[in-house]
Order: sequence, then C-alpha cells, then structure tokens
Amino acid sequence: MKCVKVPLKQLNDTRIKLMENGLMNMEYKIKADKDYGYIPVDDDIDDYEIVDIDLEPMKKVPHNFSEILKDELTPDEIENLRTSFDTIGDVVILEIPEDLQDKKQIIGDAALKFTKRKAIYMKKSAIKGTTRVRDLEFLSGIDDSVTIHKEHGARLKLDIREVYFSPRLATERKRVMESVKDGEKILDMFCGIGPFPIVIAKNRNVDITAVDINESAIYYLNENIRLNKLKGNIQTCCGDIGKVSKSFKTKFDRIIMNLPGLAYTFLDVAVDLIEDGGIINYYEFSDSYEQGIKRLEVACGKVGKEVEIINTRKVKSTSPGEWHVAIDARIKK
Ligand SMILES: C[S@@+](CC[C@H](N)C(=O)[O-])C[C@H]1O[C@@H](n2cnc3c(N)ncnc32)[C@H](O)[C@@H]1O
Repeated sequence: MKCVKVPLKQLNDTRIKLMENGLMNMEYKIKADKDYGYIPVDDDIDDYEIVDIDLEPMKKVPHNFSEILKDELTPDEIENLRTSFDTIGDVVILEIPEDLQDKKQIIGDAALKFTKRKAIYMKKSAIKGTTRVRDLEFLSGIDDSVTIHKEHGARLKLDIREVYFSPRLATERKRVMESVKDGEKILDMFCGIGPFPIVIAKNRNVDITAVDINESAIYYLNENIRLNKLKGNIQTCCGDIGKVSKSFKTKFDRIIMNLPGLAYTFLDVAVDLIEDGGIINYYEFSDSYEQGIKRLEVACGKVGKEVEIINTRKVKSTSPGEWHVAIDARIKK
C-alpha cells in the first residue's frame, strides 16, 4: 500500500493536510512505529516521501440498510421492505413478502443493525378479530414485545403482541386533539391503549370515557394514564360498547369511533349518546366518503336528527383504491 512516511511529530498535521486536499486513502488505517507514521494515499505526492507498506483495512460498519443487504436483494426489494417498517417505541415491525421468506433472518438482522432498536418482529398475519391484533414472529434482537412509544409528547406503553396500535395515525390524533375544546365530554368507543384519550387529555382539560373490549388494551391505558401528566380526566371501561353504553347516564359532546371495519354497526349507539350539536369523529375503510356520509344520515334519520359534515379526509391508504377515511360530523336535532 502506498503511504506517506512522516516523522511521528508531524503525523497529525500531515494527516489533516492530506485529508483536506482529498489525498488520503480512507479505506486503510494509519500505522505508526517508534519514529514514523504511515498515511495511506492513492498516488505519489510531491514533497512527501512515499513508501510501500502493508496497512490494515478499515473495518467497514454498514450503517445503511441497503448497504447491508445489497448482495442479497435487488434495490426494488430493499425499497419495498424499507417502506414496510413500523417503529413502535424500541421495536420494529416488518412486512416481508412471501418470495423473500427464505431471507427473513438476514433481513431481520440487517434491520436490527440499521435501526439500532431492541427487537425486530415480522408480520405473520393481517390485523384480525375483534381486538384487531396481528400475529408476529420474532426475528432479531431481544424478544420483548412490551415497549413505550412516544407521540406528540405522550408516552404510550403497550405490548405489540396483545393490542392494536398504529404509529401511522399520529397525525390524525393530533388533528383531532387540536379540534377539541377545554370542557368537552368525550367518549372514545374503541380506545385501544388510549392514544386518542391520552394525546387529547395531555393537551386539553376534558372528561373522557374510554371503552375497549380488549382487557390488555385497558390494562395499558391505565398504565398510560399513570405515565403521563394529564390536564384532563380519563375514565376507563373494559367491555363491548354495545352493552356497556346502556348504563351510561350522560351524553357526550364528542364521540370517537376508530374501528374502521365495523364502526358503522355502532352508529345508532353513537347517535343516541351524542349531545345536541355534538361531533362524531367517524372512521371507515372505503374508496369514497359517500358511503360513510350516507350511513351517518341513515342512523340520524331513524331518530329525526340531522347531520352536518364538517370535514372529510383520507387518513391512510389501506389497499389500492381503498382508504382509511375520516368523517367529522355535527349531529343536530
Ligand atoms: C382499530 S383499534 C383502534 C384503537 C385505538 N383507537 C387506536 O387508535 O389505537 C379498534 C379497537 O376497538 C376494540 N373493539 C372492537 N370491538 C369493540 C367493541 N364492540 N366494543 C369496544 N371495543 C371494541 C378493539 O379491541 C381495538 O382495540
């Protein structure tokens, strides 16, 4: 290896000068003996003594996901994997397509190095069942599925194997929180671990009733109430909203209905529990807003109430041509 040989005393200044002029070869380590230092270079350089010496190559630590996997996968495959990353606290969930399953371990290990998180899990099923949880397979790191996710200054503790949570709804939660006013009485019909209630109560002095059928979700919501400094008050309730709502003695200024596959089946309950002039934050999976608006109108029509649509938006894409849509509706007598 070609090196510039300099007396030890001049080693550092020479190194800096060569680096600044782009003359140093950064792929090898500098060597020093008792009297001289040897700095790797690509070419002969005027004014310096050049010698030929064996140097140790620098250990290349690949920081980048593509670099680690570039010999295993095509650039398109790497890009597709990268967009499937969901980081929840210090764990990462990946979607690995069927044709790359034989490389799942290499991919998991690369994701661990790249993200520097505690654990990497792979999606083993779609989100399913009443509790909206998916099967996961542990791939790399430490197999501990409990984590604390930070969102808009809130700490959200959860077990990713036991409860539903999507970091992709963070913007939607902030948007809803910003539309809430102090003093509101709110019902979250399908609260999960409580990201809507916690983010809202952290920022607004409100009274929230948070219901979920999944015991584990309510366990973590109770933890989250303790973990966060809240301005508002949250009361938790574990059960089927269709049943527990029968014992509610109050009406609500706002009802949040984030169970997009089935929320429409609970619209009659929501329309009954909403204050005159209150707002329903309604969600569903659809290719348009018309279906959701129609469903709101039908539920209100049955009891002689009216719907005023305040806002509609696409929260996220779920499959080609289908969206998780949000409809904010004011319900009036
Ligand atoms: C899509 S998740 C949404 C959770 C939460 N709102 C969030 O944004 O993370 C829907 C939640 O509804 C709960 N759920 C499903 N059916 C329910 C019912 N009949 N009554 C109450 N909760 C229900 C599930 O356990 C799940 O936690």
